[in-house]
Amino acid sequence: MDFFIDTADLDEIRKAKDYGILDGVTTNPSLIAKTGKPFKKVIAEIATLVPGDVSAEVLSLDLDGILREGRELAKIAGNIVIKVPLIAEGIKAVKIFSGEGIKTNVTLCFSSMQALLAAKAGATYISPFVGRLDDISHDGMELIQEIVTIYQNYDYSTKVLAASIRHPIHLKTAALMGADVATIPFKVFDMLVKHPLTDKGLEQFIEDSKKFHWD
Ligand code: E4P
Repeated sequence: MDFFIDTADLDEIRKAKDYGILDGVTTNPSLIAKTGKPFKKVIAEIATLVPGDVSAEVLSLDLDGILREGRELAKIAGNIVIKVPLIAEGIKAVKIFSGEGIKTNVTLCFSSMQALLAAKAGATYISPFVGRLDDISHDGMELIQEIVTIYQNYDYSTKVLAASIRHPIHLKTAALMGADVATIPFKVFDMLVKHPLTDKGLEQFIEDSKKFHWD
């Protein structure tokens, strides 16, 4: 399973990268806004810092605008993935980008039929937002399962990128279901390594190690 970090904050990206297991980064306009910096500058900085795929989201909603912005963002670095919203114009753009060899991440996916359209258009990634579905009393993880099954049934190469992850159980369930990637907020990333029994066991081992010498 690939691990992406869901942030535009360079410090968070650096800390996650230090683990040595970070495969990429996803951003969105809300995350970019928090940095207070110009969009293209932030994306260029992230793409230099992380060798893996870096998703940058277009802002236009019409086909010409999506294509223009996507092509401009794709020129920033070889690892830029164009994030396109799951709307009709977005699907048309994904088909065109895929013909041009531009990688895409179709975002704001809330149904398996939307995901099927994205795969048929040749999307590189599909981003089902599990947390936001849970927020409205739907089952976000059920959507991941449906998409994984449908993609397997027809051998689509579009990768399932579990997004809007709120806690480690989302990640665990996505992994059990066979999602290809999870994009994880830094807070959750940092929680993954922790377990109280690890800390307790370590404390005991350190205490007992004082009773003998190394050589
Ligand atoms: C995905 O690429 C999005 O940036 C992200 O996962 C949205 O998560 P949120 O629902 O926590 O904003």
